[in-house]
Amino acid sequence: MDTKKDFPCLNQKIGGLSPVYLDSACMSLKPRCVIDKMVEYYEQYSGCGGRSAHKFSSRTTEEVAKARQLVSDFIGAKKPEQVLFTKNTTESINLVAKSFKFKPTDIVLTTDKEHNSNLVPWLLMSRNKIIRHKTISSKPDGSFDIEAFRDLMQREKDIKMVSINHVSNIDGYKNPIKEIIEIAHDNNAVVLLDGAQSVPHTKIDVEKEDIDFLAFSGHKMCGPTGTGVLYGKEELLNELNPFIVGGDTVEDVDGDKITFLEIPEKFEAGLQDYAGIIGLGEAARYLSDIGIEKVEKHVNDLNIYLDEKIKQIENVKIIGSSDPKRRSGITNAVVEGINSHEIAMYLDEVKNIMVRDGAHCVHSWYNKTKTKASLRASLYLYNDKSDIDAYVEGLKEYIELIR
Ligand code: ALA
Repeated sequence: MDTKKDFPCLNQKIGGLSPVYLDSACMSLKPRCVIDKMVEYYEQYSGCGGRSAHKFSSRTTEEVAKARQLVSDFIGAKKPEQVLFTKNTTESINLVAKSFKFKPTDIVLTTDKEHNSNLVPWLLMSRNKIIRHKTISSKPDGSFDIEAFRDLMQREKDIKMVSINHVSNIDGYKNPIKEIIEIAHDNNAVVLLDGAQSVPHTKIDVEKEDIDFLAFSGHKMCGPTGTGVLYGKEELLNELNPFIVGGDTVEDVDGDKITFLEIPEKFEAGLQDYAGIIGLGEAARYLSDIGIEKVEKHVNDLNIYLDEKIKQIENVKIIGSSDPKRRSGITNAVVEGINSHEIAMYLDEVKNIMVRDGAHCVHSWYNKTKTKASLRASLYLYNDKSDIDAYVEGLKEYIELIR
């Protein structure tokens, strides 16, 4: 897959060296077409959407509608109105958490491998007695314990929502959502899927997979920063209380009587990040034209290659499954006796190799498993074997240097 040429960030030299970017689970790079689409908005018609009647505003409204359709098609939604634009996955999850009509006895179930975005909102709500929160433990290899889940769902009738990641940002493990959704629905619970790490990499069909809510970010799927999506089943979105309210969320205000607009406007208050939304539509088009299945295969093949090479280095312990096919595009490792932050700094400063170190916003899991901060390489469509060779060589070099 030859897509490197599409990404301006990768076609520059920094200190004479090309950058090697292995941090796409955090932030993906942007292709030229997405950048151009955003510049087009700013240079040609940078008006407001859905309000004024002039040409710039009409064009903005039209381009936002096109973007909504592109994103809707990308995830297989029945109607574009089911796609709400937000700032990121975090905001999408908070929208559901704050707007779903919970009773204080309701339980929200998460796994023990949730990103803070899908944990902190529930912990706070539980502390404030708005809901109760429970966690289901993963198996020792990081996989989902479907039997324990089935037992718990049958036993604990107050579980109202199962809010889980589709693909983990720490070990790349993909949760078996088909079974999880079936079991949750059989037991009258709705499922909020955190698709931050899956939507950019794998085919999702919200209709076929019967997903209730899906939260994901534009910035991890070649889209602009500050863009995200909440998809929901129409009847569930209609049932949500308003979240952030203000301009363009209401049809009328008369005295203290407020009549809210329908979805999606009800949840898109104030002037929006039009350039971002339009850029996100372009990112969905770019990935669809390449084919998300091709992206997934490319990333998985590269991760197998990385796995083979990294396992040849002594004292490298990979987090999660030993089978790279079960880790999506993520290889997250602890190098015994070496501080992962120092390795990351060396790779960046000396080699222009960009990886992420630390607890990856999943402090709860690192604390629970007493895992030290780790070094994560995460791959995407613009990576190739030369990036992996550079990373593994750089890692070996640092280990030899300090031993
Ligand atoms: N979720 C992002 C990551 O894993 C921030 O890096």
